[in-house]
Amino acid sequence: AIKRRFYHEKVIDHYENPRNMGSLDKNDPTVGTGLVGAPACGDVMRLQIKVDESGKISDVKFKTFGCGSAIASSSYITERVMGMNLDEAGKIKNTDIAKELCLPPVKLHCSMLAEDAIKSAINDYRKKQGGTILNAAAAA
Ligand code: FES
Ligand code: FES
Repeated sequence: AIKRRFYHEKVIDHYENPRNMGSLDKNDPTVGTGLVGAPACGDVMRLQIKVDESGKISDVKFKTFGCGSAIASSSYITERVMGMNLDEAGKIKNTDIAKELCLPPVKLHCSMLAEDAIKSAINDYRKKQGGTILNAAAAA
């Protein structure tokens, strides 16, 4: 259990009722997977996005092995990026997350994990799409 008095109620809410927890098929070409770790503490976050034909994020799932703030940051970012295009989602700053969740300075790296995870998921998706285009060109 996390120590309630040290956390803002928004953190507690995301921690106790995490949104969009789970997995997407990482072999699906329309899914990008980001897996990142926090050097400061060793916590790990996996974030996956599914992108529809219009380039918008139509599904998003996370799994986080970490502290309450890391879980809350991942839960929050999944809600935030749903329906965004990739450029918008890539612009979310850890400081926005920390501000929204009222994280104290010592927990800033927890929200950094969420920023890194979404960027890494976007990169993975783009890499996969690039691969698809190359294969199509090679086949033509
Ligand atoms: Fe890893 Fe926070 S130090 S749970
Ligand atoms: Fe390490 Fe929160 S204490 S991610």
